[in-house]
Amino acid sequence: MPRRLWSHRHLIGLLLGGLGLLLAGCAKNAPQDTFKPKGTEAKRIDHLAVPVFIIAGVVGLLVGAAVIVIIIKFRQRPGDDDRVPAQIHGNTKLEIGWTIAPAVLLAIIAVPTVATVFKLADKPRDAMEVQVVGQQWWWEFDYPGEGVITANELVIPVGQPVVLHITSRDVIHSFWIPRLNGKKDAVPGRIQDLNLEADTPGEYWGQCTEFCGLSHANMRIRAIALSQGDFAKWIANQKQNAVTPTDAAAVAGQNVFKNRGCAGCHQINGVNVAQNVPLIAGAAPNLTHLMSRDVFAGAMFDLETPGCTVTNTEPTGTPPQCLNRAALEAWLRDPGKQKPMYAKGGRGMPNLNLSETEIDNLVAYLSTLK
Ligand code: CUA
Repeated sequence: MPRRLWSHRHLIGLLLGGLGLLLAGCAKNAPQDTFKPKGTEAKRIDHLAVPVFIIAGVVGLLVGAAVIVIIIKFRQRPGDDDRVPAQIHGNTKLEIGWTIAPAVLLAIIAVPTVATVFKLADKPRDAMEVQVVGQQWWWEFDYPGEGVITANELVIPVGQPVVLHITSRDVIHSFWIPRLNGKKDAVPGRIQDLNLEADTPGEYWGQCTEFCGLSHANMRIRAIALSQGDFAKWIANQKQNAVTPTDAAAVAGQNVFKNRGCAGCHQINGVNVAQNVPLIAGAAPNLTHLMSRDVFAGAMFDLETPGCTVTNTEPTGTPPQCLNRAALEAWLRDPGKQKPMYAKGGRGMPNLNLSETEIDNLVAYLSTLK
């Protein structure tokens, strides 16, 4: 008797696994779904990928079906043991046929593919420029035309072509917001351009897609597309220096920021970098307008309490009542516990051993930075 390769258990496991994968593709909340493009470049990719996927799918199904038919039809049957199938060598017509058919198919697909590659690389006219710096483990966004710098959240105006100049400060990362465009590597010492345009206001999630160490999976990107008017307000707000704190806890918190190590890496305009100069980045996110963002630490944590009804696509910043105090305090208490980092090697935020009072004061101060 021929040995059975697949037991029923194997088959059931395979079926369940396959079904699980299939159902995973039906997720409704899929913010990084490349098949739901929301911008010019992503749509170009989609218009190419979908027809190619259909052609490849049809070919794949035909080949798969043929393999299954042949496996069943020509399987070894009881009593066949000593019979050897008819031996043949080559079939010129068939071989020429299955060489030419794929070659023609690939040549046809190459035409729109090459055209799309060139179109994606075209620098759009009147583009807004944003420098993107990847680093372990967060993204910095620098608007050189505006003197604005921010982190984790890429804010762009709707319907406005944007050119990202992407680079890295340490190792190779890769920038990808699937609903806006394809990937581009962030390579130290090189600047690589990527065009983006969002056609609908809203948030678009992305993440680093090149393994870059401990927190590679926690190096996320949140892009926010605002109407032209809201974007102008956002820029105007970002250009302001940090608010001078007035209440006692916030004043004490500012002293914690200055004297307990925070200011060694983070910058706050008008506090540890000069006022009225274009913002410059340190080794960590610039915090001048921290509360205008919704996320922190590589867009890994919500800066706003989940379920808070005041959304932060409005440019004035998160009202303090929405602050996700628990997450921010946990982060300040021991960052390495919240997110794997290698602070001793200078990568990621170290534990500054702040006291609970210092943490409370620091949070009071940070929540003024709108
Ligand atoms: Cu940065 Cu992976």
